[in-house]
Amino acid sequence: MYFDNKKINYKVTVKDNQDGSTTDGTIAPNKVKVTLDYIPEGKDLIKATIGHQQNTVPEGRKLIDGSDCTACHASDIKVNGPSYTNIAKKYSKDDIGYLVSKIIKGGQGVWGETMMSAHPQLTPDETEKMVRYILSLKPDKNSNQNLLPLEGTIAFKDHIGKDKQGIYVLMASYLDNGAEGQPESTLSAQEKMVFKSAKIEAEDAIEKSDGLGNWKALDETLVGSILHNAYLKFDTLNLKNLESIKLSTYFNNNYAYEGDVEIREGAPNGNLIGKNHFKYFNKGKSALKYYDIPVKPKSDKNTLFLVFKNEKDKEQYITNVNWILMNYRR
Ligand code: HEC
Repeated sequence: MYFDNKKINYKVTVKDNQDGSTTDGTIAPNKVKVTLDYIPEGKDLIKATIGHQQNTVPEGRKLIDGSDCTACHASDIKVNGPSYTNIAKKYSKDDIGYLVSKIIKGGQGVWGETMMSAHPQLTPDETEKMVRYILSLKPDKNSNQNLLPLEGTIAFKDHIGKDKQGIYVLMASYLDNGAEGQPESTLSAQEKMVFKSAKIEAEDAIEKSDGLGNWKALDETLVGSILHNAYLKFDTLNLKNLESIKLSTYFNNNYAYEGDVEIREGAPNGNLIGKNHFKYFNKGKSALKYYDIPVKPKSDKNTLFLVFKNEKDKEQYITNVNWILMNYRR
């Protein structure tokens, strides 16, 4: 998990049966790519993999290798047709449509009088992947990319001031040398570590008991219709040194709310690590309310459940949940 300005020390090591290892210096540190990316949307991991394309074989490259392109093209030298790097220098993403149709239809005249054969067997979709790969070979395209050293400290700053909590991805990749004289035998490996926000939106619970639903109030997405025995399940979290959980809740005006929340680890009837009572009624005013609930977890890592109870009146609403925030001992 990450918090504002929290710092983390990291170290990447690579071992390869043939090439050696980074610890004894047989693999040069600059052959290993290490990146840290902040992904605001919280879902799309593709951004984090961008700097690692050369260390994994992109799909467009595989398609090119499986087609007849290599008969007339190479990366850096002119064969029958222009080199991919020269094509990448000449064109941009705006030209994808043109290049796709040119490859499928074939043609001549742009680079000289030599003719490119037509490729009617290729779908526009496959061809676009090939073109995107060729365009990615533009020299220096990645030169200002933030490559990190094999060992260092990272800080989490990019999320500060944004309303949505994204994730951070620390990623390392390595492309090995392959077997001698067989360039296509190279293998790549990639490892990533995902850092999630210490604040988790209630609607991001990985499981909600039947009857719960999302709704909006005061620009916040809430989980509501919480009655006796309702629960929210949160994905495996670090519980070591967890001191308290701050709970953001919402109460609508002119409704009588009452009941308890039990915080449990592992299961809806798992170990009880903290508890809070709610009671709210106001004819005219609704309110966002925050509770800092002390917790005593047993496990270092576990799923977390918020279980709601109102034995007295099983039809009475207990609260609406906005988010939870994990507070760790420093
Ligand atoms: C028979 C040889 C041949 C084959 C096979 C071939 N090309 Fe070409 N390619 C050429 C030639 C020659 C040109 C230059 C055409 C021109 O001057 O308009 C070219 C041009 C290109 C261009 C630039 C087009 C432009 O208008 O600037 C791209 C992109 C390209 N090829 C991709 C591919 C891909 C991808 C494949 C495999 C699916 C492929 N080529 C297969 C010969 C070939």
